[in-house]
Amino acid sequence: MKIKILMVCLGNICRSPLAEGILQSKLDPEKYLVKSCGTSNYHIGEKPDVRSIEVAKKYNIDISKQRAAQFKSSDFDTYDYIYPMDISNYNNIIKLAKNDIEKGKVKLILNELSNENLEVPDPYYGGEQGFENVYKMLDEACNSIAVKISE
Ligand code: 4NP
Repeated sequence: MKIKILMVCLGNICRSPLAEGILQSKLDPEKYLVKSCGTSNYHIGEKPDVRSIEVAKKYNIDISKQRAAQFKSSDFDTYDYIYPMDISNYNNIIKLAKNDIEKGKVKLILNELSNENLEVPDPYYGGEQGFENVYKMLDEACNSIAVKISE
């Protein structure tokens, strides 16, 4: 059985598609499944934002084939680790959890670097620099996750 990891943001077009692509690039696909989704239904079926596609491409990661999906309760059964990008995403996921086992799967992604409840800022309304910044944060966090889950 593969270990399954779900990256979650609001729209599933900016932050979590990058997190999915970055973590995938660090893990053996025979052993790990990495996917992403959003807590909202705003962009279901859409490709990632071009700015996310471009920054990923710059680092040799192709996220252009991803399509946005919405988080659903059954994801608690499917996934072992669920990583929201910010506190609002965290709260929206926790609201759908049925028990402590499900709640225990959910952790703010930057808490894999330091337990300060830091958020990956939403880059949607900003410029390209915001996407570069998000990329770097996620790359660091995904390094920690890759080490942790392969122990
Ligand atoms: P994401 O960014 O949650 O990182 O995908 C956003 C994308 C779209 C919207 C908000 C955030 N929106 O309001 O449409």
